[in-house]
Amino acid sequence: KKVLHIVGARPNFMKVAPIHKAIAQRGRLSQILVHTGQHYDVKMSDVFFTDLGMPAPDVYLGIGSGSHAEQTARIMIELEKVFLREKPDLVSVVGDVNSTLAGALVASKMGIRISHVEAGLRSFDTTMPEEINRIVTDRLADLLLTPSQDGDANLLKEGVDPSRIHFVGNVMIDTLLASKAQAEKLSTLQELGLTAGNYAVCTLHRASNVDDPKVLGGLLSALAHVAGRMPILFPVHPRTRKMLADQGLSGMLERTPALRLVEPMGYLEFLALTSQARLILTDSGGLQEESTALGVPCLTLRENTERPITVEQGTNLVVGTDPVRISQEADRILDGQGKQGRVPALWDGRSAERIAELYERVLGAGSEELRA
Ligand code: UD1
Repeated sequence: KKVLHIVGARPNFMKVAPIHKAIAQRGRLSQILVHTGQHYDVKMSDVFFTDLGMPAPDVYLGIGSGSHAEQTARIMIELEKVFLREKPDLVSVVGDVNSTLAGALVASKMGIRISHVEAGLRSFDTTMPEEINRIVTDRLADLLLTPSQDGDANLLKEGVDPSRIHFVGNVMIDTLLASKAQAEKLSTLQELGLTAGNYAVCTLHRASNVDDPKVLGGLLSALAHVAGRMPILFPVHPRTRKMLADQGLSGMLERTPALRLVEPMGYLEFLALTSQARLILTDSGGLQEESTALGVPCLTLRENTERPITVEQGTNLVVGTDPVRISQEADRILDGQGKQGRVPALWDGRSAERIAELYERVLGAGSEELRA
C-alpha cells in the first residue's frame, strides 16, 4: 500500500519529516514525497531537507508564487497527473497552506483516501486564507488527525463523525524534541554575538500584518520598544522583506540597530535561537506551539489564534497588533512577571509513530504482511 505525502511551504517540512521517517523505519508501507514548490528559495525550502535529514522529494512540481487562485489551481493540475501516475492508496496532507488544500481537493474527486495531519484547528476568522484551507481540507479528509483536543471539539461541533477523528498529538514537536540537543550545539548564538536568555526573536509574515503599512509600522514601533531593552533577532520572510522595502519603512529600521534583520534561517539554527531566547514575538502558527514546547514566553501579534491550547496551557499570549499593548506585555515578561506554561498532552515526540501505526491499520498493511 502506498502513502503519498504532500509538502509545499516551509511549515510543512518539519511536520512531514518525522512521519516519513517513522513509516520508513517500520517498513510496512511504501511512500512517496511530493513537493509542490510553493516555497522554492533555498532558505525557505532546501535547507530544511538537509537540516531534517529528509530525503529529496520524489516529485518536485516547481509551482512557485502567484495569487491564491493561480497557485492553488496550478498545484491541482500537476497533482492530478501525479496521482494518476502513482495511484496512492492514501494522500497525507499537513497544516493549512495552499498546497494542503490543493492536495485534498484533487484526491477527493479522484476517490483517494485523504488524511489531514493537524486537523480541527480553527481561528474562526475566515479573512485568513489558512482558515479557509483548514475548513475545506477537514471537510474532505477521511482521517482527521488532531494535535490537541480542542481540535476534536471543533470537528465534533461541525458534525464530523467521531470515527474519523484521531487525537495523535503534535507531530511538529516530534521534530523539535529530536533536534533540540543538536541545535543547541551549534555556534549560532556566538556568531550573532548573543547570550542565552538575553535576546528576543521575532517573525512576521501574515498578510494581515505585513501588507498594510499602518499595521506593519505599528508592529515595528513595538519592536523598537523591546529593542530598547534587549537585542531582537528578526529573520525576515521574503514577503515581509518585500513589504518593508515597498512601504519605505527601512529608515525606521536604520534608527533601531538593536532590531537585527537577517535572512530566513534553517531549522536547526533557528531552533538554537528560539530555544535560548528570553521572549518570542510572532504571527506564526508553528512558533506559538514551539515556544510552548520550549517553555519560552511568546507574544502572538494577531487578534486570534487557531491554537488556543498554547494560551490555555502554554506560554503564549495573544496580544493583537496595538503597539502600546505589545510593549506593555513585553515589559511584563522582561520584568519577570510572565506566565508559566506546561506542555500539552501528547506533545511528547511520539506523534509520528502513532500516525504511522494508524496508516498501517487503515490501509490493512499489518494484515497483508501477516498473510505474506
Ligand atoms: C505560506 C502559507 C502560510 C504559512 C507560510 C509560511 C498559504 C496560503 N500561506 O505563506 O500559511 O504560514 O507560507 O512561510 O499557503 N516567496 C519567496 N520565496 C519563496 C516563497 C515565497 O520569495 O520561496 C515570496 C513571494 O513573493 C510570494 C510571497 O513570498 O509571492 C508569498 O508566498 P506564498 O507561498 O503565497 O505565501 P506565504 O506568505 O509564504
